[in-house]
Amino acid sequence: MNHRLLWLACLAAVSFSCPATAEDGYDLWLRYRAADTREYSALTSGVRELVTVSGSETLKVAQGELARGISGLVGAPVAQVAAPTQSGAVLLGTPRSSPLLAGLPLALDRAGSEGYVIRSVIVNGHAATVIAGNSDVGVLYGAFHFLRLIQTRQALTGLDVVSRPRTQLRILDHWDNLDRHVERGYSGQSIWDWHRLPGWLEPRYTDYARACASIGVNGSVLTNVNANATSLTPAYLEKAAALAGVFRPYGVRVYLTARFSAPIELGGLKTADPLDPAVRAWWKAKVDEIYRYIPDFGGFLVKANSEGQPGPQDYKRNHADGANMLAEALAPHDGIVMWRAFVYSSEKTEDRARQAYSEFVPLDGKFADNVLVQVKNGPIDFQPREPFSPLFGAMPKTPLMMEFQITKEYLGFATHLAYLAPLYEEVLDADTMVAGKGSTVAKVIDGALHGYKLTGMAGVANIGSDRNWSGSHFDQANWFAFGRLAWDPDASSQAIAEDWVRMTFSNDPAFVKPVVDMMMGSREAVVDYMTPLGLAHLMGTGHHYGPAPWVGDLSRPEWNPAYYHRADASGIGFERGPGGSNATAQYSPKVAARYADPKKTPENLLLWFHHVSWDRRMTSGRTLWEELVHRYDHGVEAVRQMRRTWDTQSGRVDPERFAQVAAFLAIQEQEAKWWRDACIAYFQSLSKRPLPPGAEPPAHSLEYYQSLKFPYAPGRG
Ligand code: GCU
Repeated sequence: MNHRLLWLACLAAVSFSCPATAEDGYDLWLRYRAADTREYSALTSGVRELVTVSGSETLKVAQGELARGISGLVGAPVAQVAAPTQSGAVLLGTPRSSPLLAGLPLALDRAGSEGYVIRSVIVNGHAATVIAGNSDVGVLYGAFHFLRLIQTRQALTGLDVVSRPRTQLRILDHWDNLDRHVERGYSGQSIWDWHRLPGWLEPRYTDYARACASIGVNGSVLTNVNANATSLTPAYLEKAAALAGVFRPYGVRVYLTARFSAPIELGGLKTADPLDPAVRAWWKAKVDEIYRYIPDFGGFLVKANSEGQPGPQDYKRNHADGANMLAEALAPHDGIVMWRAFVYSSEKTEDRARQAYSEFVPLDGKFADNVLVQVKNGPIDFQPREPFSPLFGAMPKTPLMMEFQITKEYLGFATHLAYLAPLYEEVLDADTMVAGKGSTVAKVIDGALHGYKLTGMAGVANIGSDRNWSGSHFDQANWFAFGRLAWDPDASSQAIAEDWVRMTFSNDPAFVKPVVDMMMGSREAVVDYMTPLGLAHLMGTGHHYGPAPWVGDLSRPEWNPAYYHRADASGIGFERGPGGSNATAQYSPKVAARYADPKKTPENLLLWFHHVSWDRRMTSGRTLWEELVHRYDHGVEAVRQMRRTWDTQSGRVDPERFAQVAAFLAIQEQEAKWWRDACIAYFQSLSKRPLPPGAEPPAHSLEYYQSLKFPYAPGRG
């Protein structure tokens, strides 16, 4: 080989081994890059060999993941043996699957049906780690937990980990249409390639299921809540069945959305009245058919009589009538119905924030046993900050399931860095006080408070065909955090962020601390530069991109930002106390008393609950108007600080991911400034107050901001 060829060969070798080329985010947090064993000696002594297990596909998957993970992290293939031959063996399985486990002190009664234990034990005289569950899927969850211990550089000795999920249904809701458009999706197209299913099974489907299992997600609603009846036709059921086949070993069940009018559209019936015997028979036959395709089908998610979707009220029936009809068809197969409480109507003049409670609370106790009512975290719609929905705690006889949004419809799409676990945590930790102090929302949804027989948490997925799945590297953290909080609603958002950063980027303390701090403050930054002090829904019409607080002429009042902020010459905010819509009365008495009184309402929700004067004195000593400007400035400044933090990390992360995060933060700063300037320009046109000393005037006129149009903003409904 001449010198030139030799050089080219070397160059090729270097570029193929260069980590930067592989660091496109596809591996998510399951990025098993070799650890520096000098820095982390536990790895070499703790995982010398993997004891093989035989049994179900799920156990094979668990073993395969451990082999893949350990080999990657150690930097060499891990030995696979039939029984421990030395200290440092890893064993996995259930007592039934493995005779080696049967005699060990596992104390599996602590693990429940889906949980696991990870224990340091002695097997045949050798120190070993055992990962065990009462079910195969429990073992799989345990395998992922064990890998996480390594990925986050935990000690591998003296282990006695026990973990079991606090909710039964941990579900991703994909708002994916059959043409692959994702409603409110900012990460490419739907990952479900319906056209090529069932013939072609993308490897990505397996990686999706792996990622879900790694965080305990056990269900996937494949289709949009704004449902298309076509997804219930045989051709599409065959496609859904193919996906279910890929997901099954990972413990992920498939669910579909049910369009309420499907009996008319598909069945040729004249009505979809839930009390009509022919309609009931149609659904029964349809459900039986679905189970012939997908024997472990999970059930239906339903959006009915909401935003133009058909539903039981079209026939003067109520939500319970509708849900129970579907529940009856599903019950023989152990399927469930997740019936959404996201309802509001253009005919009603009642404050939108009150409507779900008004419609659903009278139905408490009227739903069949296999129905959950799925409630968005706040009373309106996934805003950067809302109080918790008053439904939590108000329906003791109906299992209420949490619905969070993981995709950032109202928090800057995929380009803004906003770690959402603090938002989720704030809601889960909120105290409904319905049964005294400590009646948190977490205790409502995990069933502790009312003894619900069914429990669950759903997250509207942020997953798409983009190589990095979520549209941005940091948005992967929101998928991860959702799963971890669905498993344990009391988990700490900070600890989850730390795990994620270590698994996804680096264990370097000089990286972990500042980046976790940046994530922890990021959601509050968005609140400040978009909707501070309890404001809500100031986003652009339809697409929700950018500020448009001035919009007030849309046909439905509650679609207008002006409906939410109610700013005028005297002040700003929606009066929801007893002198206004009295939405505060929907909370339990102590919470209601706090929210009803502007003096007691937390300032970060003040304008949600009260219309107050621009000159109101805030705890900072500033007037409300000054505080509003201050908050907007603070939000922009926080993004600038995030950029500075990230810039110091170049060199600690691969160039490819570093560059995209840096570029997105630059977009975020520009857009934060746009939000701040446009909102201040608009609110100042009403408050007529001067800007506080030192505050920068908006860069452009109000008319300029009002003239901006974004007909092609992504994710539209
Ligand atoms: C929001 C969102 C819609 C979605 C709806 C829902 O309003 O903008 O796209 O369909 O929520 O949750 O049903």
